Amino acid sequence: MDLQFFLCWRVAPLFLLMPSGLRCMSVHIVNKEPVHVILGSNLILRARMERGPLEDISMVTWEREPETGIDPVRRTLAACPGGNPTCAGARPNIRVNVEQQETTLLINEYSTADSGVYAVTVTDHRGARTTAYCIVREYEAVHHVSVSINVSHSTLVCGEAWGTDPHFSWLHEKTTINQAVGKVSKDGATLFVTMTPICGHFTCMVSNKLGDSSATYTAAPCETGGRGTTAAVVCLVLLVLLCGGVLAFLLWRRRRHTNRGERLHEHLDDGI
Ligand SMILES: *[C@@H]1O[C@H](CO)[C@@H](O)[C@H](O)[C@H]1NC(C)=O
Repeated sequence: MDLQFFLCWRVAPLFLLMPSGLRCMSVHIVNKEPVHVILGSNLILRARMERGPLEDISMVTWEREPETGIDPVRRTLAACPGGNPTCAGARPNIRVNVEQQETTLLINEYSTADSGVYAVTVTDHRGARTTAYCIVREYEAVHHVSVSINVSHSTLVCGEAWGTDPHFSWLHEKTTINQAVGKVSKDGATLFVTMTPICGHFTCMVSNKLGDSSATYTAAPCETGGRGTTAAVVCLVLLVLLCGGVLAFLLWRRRRHTNRGERLHEHLDDGI
C-alpha cells in the first residue's frame, strides 16, 4: 500500500508518457468499523478516494452482502457514473453522493435487512477497479445482565449477552462504590471487593444508547448498622445506671447527715 502510494505520487509524474500507467486509485471507508446503526435511523457511510494524477473516476458502485452464510449474495445498492454528484439507489431510501475525493452512501430508515458487509468499488477510466469494505450491524439493546461471584478472588463479575457498546457501573446498597467497599476494573465489568466480610446488595447496571438493565448479587446482610444501635443502647443503659447510682449515693449521704444532726440535738436537750 505504502509502496503503491509512493510509486503513484512520487514516481508516476516522472513516467507521464508511459503507455500503461501504474494503478494509482485507492479507496477507503472513513467510518470506524464495525458501524452500528439503530433501527429506523439513518446509515451514512463515507469513503475517501485517492486518485493518481492521470486518473479519472468512471464509476462508483456501492454493494452489500450478508456477513455470514454459505453463499452470500452481493446486491448492488447504487451504481453511479463519475461526474454526477448525486445518484439514485436501487431502492427509494438509498442515495449516493460522488464528489472529487469522497463518496457518501445514505440509507434512510435502517432495517435489520440492511446489516451486512458493505463494499464500495471505484472504477477508473481504464476499467481498473479498487474496493473497500465495511461491516455494518444493527445497534442492539442491552440483554441478560447477570452478576456472579468469584469467591476465591473476592471479585464480582458482571455479564451482558450481546448489547452494543455496553457501559458498566456498580452500586453497593444503592450508593456508588467507594474505596471501603471495593474497586472497579478498567472496563467496568469486574468489581474487586475489599470489604470483609462481603455483605449487602451489589448491583451492576449496564447501559447503552437504547437504555439500561441491571442485576443484583445479594450477600449476607450487613450488621454494621445493627451493631451500632446495640452499642448505643448499652451505653445509654450504663449512663442511666451510673446517674441513678450517683443520685442514690447523694440521697443516702444527705439522709445520714440529717439523722446525725437530729441525734446531736437530742443529746443537747438531755444535757439541759
Ligand atoms: C476466579 O478468578 C480467577 C482470576 O481471574 C480465575 O482464574 C478463576 O478461574 C476464577 N474462578 C471461578 C470459579 O470463576
